Amino acid sequence: MIQAGIFGTSGYTGYELAKILDRHSEVAIRFATSRSLAGKLLTSLYPAGPDLPLIRPVDAPLDEVDVVFLCLPHATAAPVAVEALNKGVRVIDLSADFRLKDADVYAQWYGNQHPAPSLLSEAVYGLTEYARDELPQTRLVANPGCYPTSVLLAVLPVLQADLVDGKIIADSKSGVSGAGRTPKTSTHFVQVDGNFSPYKIGRSHRHLPEIEQGLSHWHQNPPGLIFSPHLLPVPRGILSTIYVPIKDGWTISELRDLYLQTYENQPFVHILPDGELATLAHANYTNHCVIGLNLTIGTLILTSAIDNLLKGAAGQAVQNMNLMFGLGETAGLL
Ligand SMILES: NC(=O)c1ccc[n+]([C@@H]2O[C@H](COP(=O)([O-])OP(=O)(O)OC[C@H]3O[C@@H](n4cnc5c(N)ncnc54)[C@H](OP(=O)(O)O)[C@@H]3O)[C@@H](O)[C@H]2O)c1
Repeated sequence: MIQAGIFGTSGYTGYELAKILDRHSEVAIRFATSRSLAGKLLTSLYPAGPDLPLIRPVDAPLDEVDVVFLCLPHATAAPVAVEALNKGVRVIDLSADFRLKDADVYAQWYGNQHPAPSLLSEAVYGLTEYARDELPQTRLVANPGCYPTSVLLAVLPVLQADLVDGKIIADSKSGVSGAGRTPKTSTHFVQVDGNFSPYKIGRSHRHLPEIEQGLSHWHQNPPGLIFSPHLLPVPRGILSTIYVPIKDGWTISELRDLYLQTYENQPFVHILPDGELATLAHANYTNHCVIGLNLTIGTLILTSAIDNLLKGAAGQAVQNMNLMFGLGETAGLL
């Protein structure tokens, strides 16, 4: 039985993780932390959740666990990762702290010096479908961002096959839980309900360098990228509509075959049949990324849907843990 600890359990991703691990037959939750709810049960905040006792982060018994999940804000996660690694505990970090390989790029986009730059080179970027060979050996996983997961899983098959012939435009929409539990004016019910808002469009969102890093990791001459996120008036789910200019001569059925072959043995990526477009309803409350394909005047239009809290966060984190510890990839996730 794997002994696991969760930091940041009162947050949205921490709560989803607690639910998954609570029903995972190979995992025991040894501790779950929350600063604001220490001494209480998780059910005091989430009545439907497992009735886990919550403890202060400083009281976490790191000596008693095999793995910790960091469901914390960026910059607060890295110091906890260092402490856990020093005690021989494996780390799956859901924050952005170990996703970008370059500490200067991290500082530029996240506004603080990296708290542990010497660990960046060893962290495995845990886009599971493309990292499965590295996961069993690693002690540190940088779980990908939610938008990057939806964009990279959709784009990488044509990128790796060298079929992209120009700039990629990713037009992405997220439910409000993507912004976390702390209320802000922009995520207030009255601002969001009945509204639909673009934000940080073009090349100004923090997930842009993460997606670009992914494109350049898997192709030596990556295409340009425009990435425009939007806030949807729904609690959860991401839908990315991605426009990819394709080299001449490719038909939609050849492209679909490429996607079907690429993801043939991947249990959590589902390619839709001809004519079907991905929607939030295809993916919400599942760990699946669901991808639809359409070819219009030389442009492949991909629709890619995930649940931001599952395949975009806690679900992918457990998928990564399963492979790190030699368990079945789908354990706890179906
Ligand atoms: N939401 C998503 O869709 C999503 C998807 C992918 C990745 N992520 C990333 O995953 C991480 C967690 O996201 P989330 O949406 O779960 O956030 P959240 O709902 O805001 O929860 C984060 C939790 O961390 C704790 N916390 C906050 N500040 C802290 C600090 N300074 N020190 C220690 N603990 C602190 C808080 O709990 P207490 O105050 O009770 O301790 C809070 O409930 C973030 O880095 C986020 O960017 C989020």
